[in-house]
Amino acid sequence: MNHLVIFASGSGSNFQSIIDNIQSGRLDAKITGLITNRDQIGAISIAKLNGIPYQVINKKDFSNSKEYEESLLVQCRNWDAHYLICAGYLNKIPDLLIEHYDRRILNIHPSLLPKYGGKGFYGIHVHTSVIEHGETVSGCTIHLVSSNYDEGPILAQESVEVDPEDTPHSLAAKVLAIEHSLYPKTIQNYIHQLIQTS
Ligand code: GRF
Repeated sequence: MNHLVIFASGSGSNFQSIIDNIQSGRLDAKITGLITNRDQIGAISIAKLNGIPYQVINKKDFSNSKEYEESLLVQCRNWDAHYLICAGYLNKIPDLLIEHYDRRILNIHPSLLPKYGGKGFYGIHVHTSVIEHGETVSGCTIHLVSSNYDEGPILAQESVEVDPEDTPHSLAAKVLAIEHSLYPKTIQNYIHQLIQTS
């Protein structure tokens, strides 16, 4: 069984869609835990409702980065993680995890990377920028996580039209809707492909 540890900082709608796809048999995996950097978020409620263990790990609770990074790694190991799935996680994934889970950390970003990616491009800021630049197409990207924000190899992308009447919020909702089907499908395909080639 493929063990996924989810990293999330927000409402957790992608986390929920991954749970739904596992329950319906479209994604052959088990979520063994949720790591978050924030208390009282939707993702934690989802974990509780589904009996998934969770841990809040916040950099500012540690005296140095080494202890913080090691605590993330220990938690992933305790949950026997095979893949780390970032689903709206707003902290940078430390290099220690990238080394240990080489090519096994995935992220979803709400734009067609490399456009509108990198530091500062998160949440509604991405969609505001897309609209300000007069783009007629946007979308989402699933990629492997590397040391630089939003720069790892791209696994999948899907686009949506940006209509003249779209606001950042309406565009965010459109993009989120396609994220919910593309992310579980891409995780399934990617895991399957890695198993075939290993
Ligand atoms: C999504 O738009 C995702 O692309 C981005 O953060 C948002 C997370 O939304 N990385 P949710 O918490 O899954 O609802």
